[in-house]
Amino acid sequence: MKKFLALLSLLFFTAFASGQVRVAVHEAEDGPVIPKEIYGQFSEHLGRCIYDGIWVGPGSAIPNINGYRLDVLEALRALGVPVLRWPGGCFADEYHWQDGIGPRETRPRMINSNWGGTLEDNSFGTHEFLDLCEMLGAEPYISGNVGSGTVEELAKWVEYMTAKDGTQAERRAANGRKEPWKVKFLGIGNESWGCGGEMTPEFYADQYRRYATYCRNFDGNHLYKVASGASDYDYNWTKVLMEKVGRRADAVSLHYYTVTNWNHKGSATDFTDGEYYDIIAKALEVEEVLRNHEVIMDTYDPERRIDLLLDEWGTWFDVEPGTNPGHLFQQNSMRDAIVAAMSLNIFNKHTYRLKMANIAQIVNVLQSMVLTQGDKMLLTPTYHVFRMYRGHQDAVAVPVAFACDTLQAPSGRLYPTLSISASRSADGKLLVTLVNPRLDSAQAVTLVLDALRPKTAAGEILCTSDIRAHNTFAQPQQVAPKPFGDIRLSGRNVSLTLPPASVVSVTLQ
Ligand code: AHR
Repeated sequence: MKKFLALLSLLFFTAFASGQVRVAVHEAEDGPVIPKEIYGQFSEHLGRCIYDGIWVGPGSAIPNINGYRLDVLEALRALGVPVLRWPGGCFADEYHWQDGIGPRETRPRMINSNWGGTLEDNSFGTHEFLDLCEMLGAEPYISGNVGSGTVEELAKWVEYMTAKDGTQAERRAANGRKEPWKVKFLGIGNESWGCGGEMTPEFYADQYRRYATYCRNFDGNHLYKVASGASDYDYNWTKVLMEKVGRRADAVSLHYYTVTNWNHKGSATDFTDGEYYDIIAKALEVEEVLRNHEVIMDTYDPERRIDLLLDEWGTWFDVEPGTNPGHLFQQNSMRDAIVAAMSLNIFNKHTYRLKMANIAQIVNVLQSMVLTQGDKMLLTPTYHVFRMYRGHQDAVAVPVAFACDTLQAPSGRLYPTLSISASRSADGKLLVTLVNPRLDSAQAVTLVLDALRPKTAAGEILCTSDIRAHNTFAQPQQVAPKPFGDIRLSGRNVSLTLPPASVVSVTLQ
């Protein structure tokens, strides 16, 4: 039945014959730098993201360093996590930071009402998070409590983390950390239109102004303040923030999840080809959503001094059978890899306004980088994409131009059958990342460079015969990148063929 439905759904597609696509790569031109924060991550006290996923405690039998599980730490270090958002999400607006400092045995316990009613023992708090960031070499991005907190509470948190002297600094030192941390990114609330307090944009804008006023810069630490932004298509929210908050904020945020039906999100691994195309089409709609928010921001801020941060994005499917519905634990297939790769290619081209994106979430929640089970850990297909794209971090964006076929998904959404972005790193290497989302045909591509006549090409490919393929704890290498050698160099031309449903990275020198 599933096969029949899959075939039927394919009949809905209007695809043109896919010939050779010539791609003009203007490597001699300089686009904006792709901030490394576009490859950012998000970690929430939700399900097994923090506990089990990152933190097992110093007494755990799972190999750890001071309570952080070693396997996850190593995997994340290899990924190069530039920025990590914490402690939520919805959890942030119920989080009281003072519960998470001092001796762990005496920290208060609370019910995590947003996420499955789990008991939160606060054993992972401010010190544990900021130390983790230092170990990863990641910038911390603190999400402050506006929904159920107070101005004083948030102001003191900033002081506790970043001031050299005074009562908060003394408390911090008594808890084992003399030197202040550097904390740049500070979110003033999260989803304040929903789980962050059900506010109107006008009310939130006033709250933002109050909270932001008292979050001070101490001892050379300079805060970059983020106003809690819109969900998806709520353009009015952005408009009101631009009008009423304006340059009091360094950035406004945006959340966009790839979900085609919130009541029936569907399985992460058991889906038809038609459902695959619908998910890809919905994921790619982020470009239109970004553009619409950017146009509003351009109206109020033509000099682009206020940034846009997509600080939550990714796929959201049904939880794995038998797991707590509030823990959002989902598998991750080759389909997720295609979503990640095409989304990142879009983000790379919007960095004139988009300065950060944080995929939700780093471990064991939604579109994760790694999954854990007891002492086992696996790398997801999405992890591999982030690793293959790592060279784009802080590289100069290189414009690409091409015309390709268009597909129509069963939902009616149209989208291109090829996705490409390119960048040049400080050492002169040109990284081109390409995606062929079609399940039924390969795509021949010729990159035509402006001036460079590359002498060497190194390629990697992520591709499986079944788009539903995913890594399990029994078979953790089902989806893994392989070297991709079939790249033909001829003067300024670079030719390759992308197999169906593949992600390819090519480094040229
Ligand atoms: O990432 C899961 C949740 O999605 C976050 O807590 C919230 O901000 C969003 O609705």
